[in-house]
Formats: sequence, structure tokens, C-alpha cells
Amino acid sequence: MNELDRQAHWQSVYATKAEREVSWFQEDPAPSLDLIAETGISANAGVIDVGGGASRLVDGLLERGFSRIAVLDLSAEALEAAKRRLGPHGEAVAWIVADVTTWDPPTTYDLWHDRAAFHFLTDPADRAAYVACLKKAVRPGGM
Ligand SMILES: C[S@@+](CC[C@H](N)C(=O)[O-])C[C@H]1O[C@@H](n2cnc3c(N)ncnc32)[C@H](O)[C@@H]1O
Repeated sequence: MNELDRQAHWQSVYATKAEREVSWFQEDPAPSLDLIAETGISANAGVIDVGGGASRLVDGLLERGFSRIAVLDLSAEALEAAKRRLGPHGEAVAWIVADVTTWDPPTTYDLWHDRAAFHFLTDPADRAAYVACLKKAVRPGGM
């Protein structure tokens, strides 16, 4: 699937399904939040949720005092849904509409989180581009 088809696909998913109607909906993203807590990372750390969609991970990170959060997704619809849910709390978040396979990160992060985005990249060139992006975006010593 090329980048435009991929974006159109995900935009249509989020435009036609309510948050709870998608098969990957998680009321409480506890597994990811627990893993992040286990790393011992501080709340001042920069965290990016790649392919974050409308996930509630960002809600949980904000509740835990994280102040440098970015959520990247191909679908502007998905990010708008998350922003609507969070209201003013979402203003502190960097919302990035981009395809991770072509995105050029302008800064570095301490932690890269991905739940269920990477596996959609079936083309080896896309997977390589993803890994190159991750290596550029995560600061040395980051995770
Ligand atoms: C199965 S959903 C998971 C969403 C979210 N991580 C969660 O746990 O609810 C996959 C997400 O990856 C996003 N995605 C797929 N390919 C992407 C790409 N190349 N770049 C950025 N986001 C992508 C989709 O728009 C979608 O929001």
C-alpha cells in the first residue's frame, strides 16, 4: 500500500467508526503504562506514541504528570478524536499528522512507544524506513 492509500484507509477507519468500535480499543492502556513505569523513566522525559491514533495512552501519561508527550499518526481524524476527548488537557501535547515512514523527526525523544502500528508495514522498505526514523528520533541512551 502506498502512503496516500494508507492514509486514506486509516482516515476512513476513524471517520466511520466510533472510538469503542475499533477492534484494538483499550479502555485502560495499563499494559503500556506499566511497561513505561517499569523503565523508570521520569515524567520530564520526552515520549512519543507512534501510530497512537485515538489511544488513551496519552490520557494516562498526562495523569501521571508527563509533560513532553507527542502523538504521531497518519490519521488527522484519529488525533482530532483524542484532542476532543482531552479538551484543554490536550493542548500540552504535540499532535503530529505524519507517516512514520517518511517523517523527519525535528527533535529527539527519550521513549518511543508503538502499540499495533509497526506490524501494518508489510513492505520491507517501509519497515526499514520506520527503523531509520526510530534511530533518528530516539536520543542515544533512550528507549
Ligand atoms: C491498530 S491502530 C492502533 C492505534 C493505537 N496505537 C492504539 O493502541 O489504540 C494502528 C494505528 O497506526 C496508524 N498508522 C498505520 N500506519 C502508519 C504509518 N505509516 N505512520 C503513522 N501512523 C500509522 C493508524 O492510523 C492507526 O491509528
